Amino acid sequence: MRKWVTAGLAGFMSLLASLSLAADLPRSVTHGDFPKHDIDGILLGRDLFYDPVLSGNRNIACATCHHPRHGSSDAMSLGLGEGADGLGPSRRLPAGSTVPARIPRNAPALWNLGAREFTVMFHDGRTMADAAAPYGIAMPDGFALERALPSALAAQVILPMLSSEEMAGQPGENPVANAVSDSRISDAWAQIAAQVATIPNYDMRIRRQNGDQPPHIADVAQALADFIAFEFRATDSPFDRFLAGDETALTPAQARGMGLFYGAAGCATCHSGPFQTDHGFHAIGMPQLGPGKEAGGQDRGRHYVTGDPADLYRFRTPSLRNVALTAPYGHAGAYPTLEDAVRHHLDPVAGLMRYQPAQAALPDTQGLADDWAMMNDPAQRIEIAAAIELNPTPLSEAELADLLAFLDALTDPAAAAGRLGVPNAVPSGLPVPR
Ligand code: HEC
Ligand code: HEC
Repeated sequence: MRKWVTAGLAGFMSLLASLSLAADLPRSVTHGDFPKHDIDGILLGRDLFYDPVLSGNRNIACATCHHPRHGSSDAMSLGLGEGADGLGPSRRLPAGSTVPARIPRNAPALWNLGAREFTVMFHDGRTMADAAAPYGIAMPDGFALERALPSALAAQVILPMLSSEEMAGQPGENPVANAVSDSRISDAWAQIAAQVATIPNYDMRIRRQNGDQPPHIADVAQALADFIAFEFRATDSPFDRFLAGDETALTPAQARGMGLFYGAAGCATCHSGPFQTDHGFHAIGMPQLGPGKEAGGQDRGRHYVTGDPADLYRFRTPSLRNVALTAPYGHAGAYPTLEDAVRHHLDPVAGLMRYQPAQAALPDTQGLADDWAMMNDPAQRIEIAAAIELNPTPLSEAELADLLAFLDALTDPAAAAGRLGVPNAVPSGLPVPR
């Protein structure tokens, strides 16, 4: 580990004073922000994360859409799920496919989801900590937890396995997909746990973790969550070093950008706290493309979960840690670059109205998907625009450049390279996405 330069307190204070911040800088992240996990659980989770054995047709792994090579996402606006081949931008539907397999939302990066304060999962928060819900975690209707899990993250990870487009496959193809299509959710999870338990290596390692019980989906969940928490922790960026007192960690442009972020540009209103998120929901009018979560390609964000008109087009504020590595941006991946995403914030209504389909990165679905139903309908653009709750922020081009430089200072280079990295092989013997 690099030895940190301890800045003179006076120099640090005068730099801070010169920035005239409207909001306080966050406290620095510490080990205490993360629960401890044991190494056997982490290694088990790593194998499961890269193993297609968790999918109905044994053809897609978590890592296919959350790959370290693509910043723990897939580098696509909207990825292709089960049934497609390849990784990232080279992923393709095989000739003759009859299912579009287009995923309705951008695959989020997994950075720092293991920190205790991340209790809201998905772009719409449909899994989140909730003291009133069974086992303290709200789940989508019909997907009730069967056992206690340690975090919302551990509860989230058992859902992609039951999504027909993501990992389960279509009814008629395999027992998991059949159970899902008959709403036998418990059977679907039991089937996946059984697929894992048939492999002696997994059976033995899970029994070592759970007191020699037959493997249950909760065991798989816990190991995946432990792995994500360990592998995708990103807390040693230039910004972290600055917060810890190293005055020289930021370049002058990055320091000016930080001043704008926590000051005149108002970013910290929503991107607050040590991980640059309030974990709340806001309507900022990012363009809508692809199949959507609702009919006709629509996606009304948090409203999809609550039905509350106040939540129309509100999406969760994403953390900005390692954001330079996770293009494209927005819940549907509408913007290919950070500059585009930030320019949208500076004038959201104009950004939405001017948006051009060519900006998106979408793998070819051979005419099976209509991606532009929403943006081709002026009335839909107006409806989304009407919900926007973010005022325009006039910034000069030089200020925008500084803000972008600051976002670059949120990258942790060691985390980007991967701590454990991609395994050479997984216990099922199935091909590892790499
Ligand atoms: C086909 C692509 C795909 C696969 C495979 C996939 N995911 Fe995802 N993942 C997504 C998308 C898209 C979302 C966002 C969905 C939404 O918000 O509605 C997501 C969301 C998540 C989240 C929530 C992140 C956040 O910030 O809220 C976690 C955690 C996650 N996935 C982990 C996993 C794990 C673990 C697996 C394997 C069991 C997996 N994913 C398999 C595409 C995928
Ligand atoms: C009103 C709350 C709010 C404010 C203020 C705000 N943002 Fe955001 N930001 C969001 C939300 C919500 C999203 C996700 C929108 C979506 O996915 O549709 C987002 C997304 C982003 C993204 C894309 C991240 C990703 O992973 O896709 C970046 C980059 C970003 N914001 C930077 C900024 C910067 C820089 C500022 C200050 C100029 C700012 N934000 C101000 C709420 C806000």
